[in-house]
Amino acid sequence: MPKAGSWRDDLRVLWLLARGRDRRAPHAAALNAFYAPQANVYDRFREQLLPGREPLMRALPLCPGLRVLDLGAGTGRHWEYVAGELSGLARLELVDLCAPLLEVARRRFADRANVCCTEQDATTVVPTEPVDLVVLSYSLSMMPDWRGVLDNAWRALRPGGCLAIVDFYTLPRTPPSGFAPLSGWDRWFWPRWFRHDGVWLRPDTVAALHGLGGRTLRQRQGRDRVPYLAGLKAPWFFWIREKPPV
Ligand SMILES: C[S@@+](CC[C@H](N)C(=O)[O-])C[C@H]1O[C@@H](n2cnc3c(N)ncnc32)[C@H](O)[C@@H]1O
Repeated sequence: MPKAGSWRDDLRVLWLLARGRDRRAPHAAALNAFYAPQANVYDRFREQLLPGREPLMRALPLCPGLRVLDLGAGTGRHWEYVAGELSGLARLELVDLCAPLLEVARRRFADRANVCCTEQDATTVVPTEPVDLVVLSYSLSMMPDWRGVLDNAWRALRPGGCLAIVDFYTLPRTPPSGFAPLSGWDRWFWPRWFRHDGVWLRPDTVAALHGLGGRTLRQRQGRDRVPYLAGLKAPWFFWIREKPPV
């Protein structure tokens, strides 16, 4: 059941989404300005807006002893879908450029010694040792240098490690192999709708993911309602790719 006050919280988020992101400000400053006024109600609204997170998190190849890097982790709420697995991880590093969202993550995981929060750019962050899993949950589409982030994520993985991504997406008219096509309406409407809030759906993202090499372990295309957007369903995908073992 929605909590009391939830309408007011939703209205605040809707107002910030309608106002959009400041495109002239430097990236970190724009993220802070956009998220700071909604950091404490972020999770409630994104519960409805980011539906692919739960199936991705439940599909992750998690097991005790793994080192995990999450790029653009925000409040880290998606890790609660697999809360039972967290204590077994050797290390979970949540990286984000946005201090107010990361502060929520710090409070959330304050009692977990194996979870750490790092305020840094996903393009340049380097883990202290190669990791077993890198996760990008609805964050790649908000990163200006998204190819740099993909390269950095792939470099951070040990051979045989996995890259897991869930995000809104678009495709070229002829989709890459293994992907069902999107309609002309989807390809026209959703990139325009999301970019107002600094979310960039790029038709070449899926091809770039294939270009990394390795082997696809899981892939899924889904579509879900967007809150307060009368009956419209936004396309999302998830994708888990294994880096070749040497
Ligand atoms: C839509 S939110 C998703 C947050 C979280 N992963 C989730 O699933 O709820 C996108 C996140 O990416 C972060 N982000 C955007 N660009 C970034 C960058 N270059 N480096 C690190 N984080 C970034 C934002 O601050 C924000 O927390």
